[in-house]
Amino acid sequence: MAAKKLNLPDTASVAHPGADGRLHAPSANRNAPVIRKTILEHAGISGTALEIASGTGEHVTMLAQALPGFSWQPTDIDSDRIMSIANWIRHSECKNILSPAILDATRAGWEKEYSGYDLILMVNLLHLIDTDGASVVVEGIAKSLAPGGTAMIYGPFLRGDDFASRGDEVFHKSLVDQNSAIGYKSFQTVQGWQASSGLMTKPAITMPANNLMLVAHKPARPLT
Ligand SMILES: C[S@@+](CC[C@H](N)C(=O)[O-])C[C@H]1O[C@@H](n2cnc3c(N)ncnc32)[C@H](O)[C@@H]1O
Repeated sequence: MAAKKLNLPDTASVAHPGADGRLHAPSANRNAPVIRKTILEHAGISGTALEIASGTGEHVTMLAQALPGFSWQPTDIDSDRIMSIANWIRHSECKNILSPAILDATRAGWEKEYSGYDLILMVNLLHLIDTDGASVVVEGIAKSLAPGGTAMIYGPFLRGDDFASRGDEVFHKSLVDQNSAIGYKSFQTVQGWQASSGLMTKPAITMPANNLMLVAHKPARPLT
């Protein structure tokens, strides 16, 4: 599949040009340590890992350095991001990251090309896509995981119908003002999709800046 250029809202996906063709997202540096800690607590220290919506590539290189037991497959829909990810990988000299691949995770059936992962990480995507697309992503993650694998979905979410803060409400409004189909989903809705896709959900984990991490495990054997 050819990479697409996305027309994301200005407020949605901040990435500044940096050295050697590497884009830089300020939030990636801030949340990588807590994401690493959560992976260690819920997904162990080794296995195969797929990252959806890798963005600049900073997370995957930081996590690959910090968690050398995992073999990482970064992906993104956007050609500029794919280039940036490749440049971050080259710069890091990490051996446990595969070449970045193009993936539109809202395309039904994507998991047929990406399957058998012990860990799937996705950070800051669901509020940028529409509800139908978001449910396809979550279902694809459930199918793509190996038995016993772990899904980790990080981002800003509604708590029921409520925003976690005034800042979240303002950010959500800035998104829907630019595209009325996108914006925050409630974490309960996303956990419902995880459960109906056969995953066992854990209580939502509070992360910095009012974000949540939604962890769910695929049963080692099909539930009877
Ligand atoms: C806000 S950025 C998050 C990047 C990175 N995960 C982070 O937190 O720094 C959103 C990313 O999602 C990617 N994206 C948007 N729609 C996508 C889709 N349908 N499938 C996969 N990636 C997508 C964008 O290209 C962008 O890199």
